[in-house]
Amino acid sequence: MRFYRLSFAVLVMLLVVFTSALVLHAQDDLTIGFAQTGSESGWRTAFTEAMQAEAEAQGINLIFSDGQQKQENQIAALRSFIAQGVDAIILAPLVETGWDEVLQEAQDAEIPVFIIDRNVTADPSLYVTRIASDFVYEGALAGAWLATATADRTECNIVELYGTVGSSPAIDRATGFANVIALFPNLHLVASQSGDFTRTGGKEVMESFLNSMDPSTICAVFGHNDDMLIGAIEAIKEAGLDPGDDILTVSVDAIPDIFKAMMDGDANATVLLNPEMGIQAYAAVKAYLAGETLPPLIPVPSAMYFPDTAAEEYAARTGS
Ligand code: AHR
Repeated sequence: MRFYRLSFAVLVMLLVVFTSALVLHAQDDLTIGFAQTGSESGWRTAFTEAMQAEAEAQGINLIFSDGQQKQENQIAALRSFIAQGVDAIILAPLVETGWDEVLQEAQDAEIPVFIIDRNVTADPSLYVTRIASDFVYEGALAGAWLATATADRTECNIVELYGTVGSSPAIDRATGFANVIALFPNLHLVASQSGDFTRTGGKEVMESFLNSMDPSTICAVFGHNDDMLIGAIEAIKEAGLDPGDDILTVSVDAIPDIFKAMMDGDANATVLLNPEMGIQAYAAVKAYLAGETLPPLIPVPSAMYFPDTAAEEYAARTGS
């Protein structure tokens, strides 16, 4: 009897060791498909590079797909990842809607999907979790900073450089910003137009604002990202005005170029969107594959930066 009890205990131990070895082996050979939106902004490029560098550091085989700003390309990438039988898919979705069908296909193939950065409106049971910042909060931070910076002004007309239409950062940042400025009777959003998160788009939209209204009546510009704001700075200068002074600026991302603009006196504030989300994303994939249950959202914290630390932040990001 004692012999059988001992043998049973040994068997259980062997099973545990064998199962752990299997999980560890599976994680050693991890293949992840990553469907990126494109390379529309400096932040997006930094995010892609950080995802690739972290995958390499962790020995993950990352299959990267650049959606080139087209949802159909991203859907095709997901279908290709499914056909290749990857261990997991990380999707950075271009827009919020239109994902249900392909997410269902991944689920049918028993491939877990992790949403990163932008959000989707799909049924949450179709993906494991989302690793992301709170875009509403980012917009609210931008609005709160502007309210403080203009506290001594009786009127402040604001123009908004809107991100990609249908994308969650554009929708949510606009909402967070509007919610806060509604609390301040001196702040008025007088125009909003999409610059598609690109530098050229931001410049063109700002030019159209400056041409369609008396430029001296524009008190501030809110850019849904730094790249559009940098394009707008060029347009403001070409119109003979002084960005950061005649027209206050606030935007989101905290890329090196916005710190350079702050150092030059052309930009006033930016909200951080951390591009290093890969660390959390890969940890989530590994935890899920090891059998852990994950929360529906894995938050990525935000912060705000101003000219007083611009030189230091620029140096930290560029090494110069
Ligand atoms: O989804 C995040 C946004 O996408 C970034 O703020 C912007 O730069 C990018 O294009």
